[in-house]
Amino acid sequence: MSTGGRVGDPRDAFDREAFGLDGRVAALTGGGSGIGKATALTLARAGASIVVADIDEAGAQNTADEITAAGGTASVVRTDVTNRADIDALVDTTMERHGRLDVMGNIAGVPYNNMVSDTPDDDLEKILAINLKGVWYGCQAAMRVMVPQGSGSIINLSSGAIDTPAPTLALYGMTKAAVAQLTKVLAMEAGRSGIRVNALAPGIIETNFSRQHFVDEEGEVDPERLEKYRKNFGRMAPLQRVGTPQDVANAIWWLVSDASGFVTGQIERPNGGVAMPW
Ligand SMILES: NC(=O)c1ccc[n+]([C@@H]2O[C@H](COP(=O)([O-])OP(=O)(O)OC[C@H]3O[C@@H](n4cnc5c(N)ncnc54)[C@H](O)[C@@H]3O)[C@@H](O)[C@H]2O)c1
Repeated sequence: MSTGGRVGDPRDAFDREAFGLDGRVAALTGGGSGIGKATALTLARAGASIVVADIDEAGAQNTADEITAAGGTASVVRTDVTNRADIDALVDTTMERHGRLDVMGNIAGVPYNNMVSDTPDDDLEKILAINLKGVWYGCQAAMRVMVPQGSGSIINLSSGAIDTPAPTLALYGMTKAAVAQLTKVLAMEAGRSGIRVNALAPGIIETNFSRQHFVDEEGEVDPERLEKYRKNFGRMAPLQRVGTPQDVANAIWWLVSDASGFVTGQIERPNGGVAMPW
């Protein structure tokens, strides 16, 4: 069924299989927890083979086990995204195991809250290394194999912190703003090779990342604090709730599928409507 437009162009037709990922291969950093884990499970259910990369090898193995138990294909490469050699090895191992790389998800990241005046240099280096250089290395490593392949989709995790500046969020927010800009410029450079590059700027998502808001002194989830966290952060959004890892994974699924085949250089916002930039 044609939807109008260019006559005879096979892309100009409704295709209910456009979300299918059969035969695709995805490498996902941060795949051992939260958004990365939900993304791994989601892309696997859509048909993709997954290479789960995380500094937390046990977490990554857990994700891979869940995928294989459900009948999917997954394996693990322990990866510290601050180490270029680790990221290169992740991409090389993915190519050895599967012969291609369709999706590179640069998802690993850590929170950081501190006033600019109080932030020590060690913290500056550490947060830049994980949240920014890790994504940079991931983009470069993916390009190395996607350009000759002539296709691919790169996904970077930015953050809603770029939309809503707040005290203590300078360092975290500046890494995420840089990731957004990297995404746009790389989309310009990669488009002619058939590679799409997009980023996510999620709002508040309930994961280990925001754990400090809802655990007790022993680090165990405190149901009362959890309820408060959901209520207080939830009411900031027009949709009146905090997000789930699945909310973000669904957006990533769309972004890596053929259903978003004309979308590149975009910052998508699964944020419950908390910010609505042009
Ligand atoms: N949760 C939120 O509210 C939220 C909002 C906006 C953006 N984000 C971004 O989403 C991404 C995923 O966060 P999440 O909420 O799923 O958190 P999470 O803590 O549940 O997961 C992060 C994962 O990254 C891994 N990781 C940390 N340092 C690493 C390193 N050096 N090398 C490899 N892996 C490393 C951790 O082991 C963990 O498995 C992050 O980039 C975060 O900044 C989160």
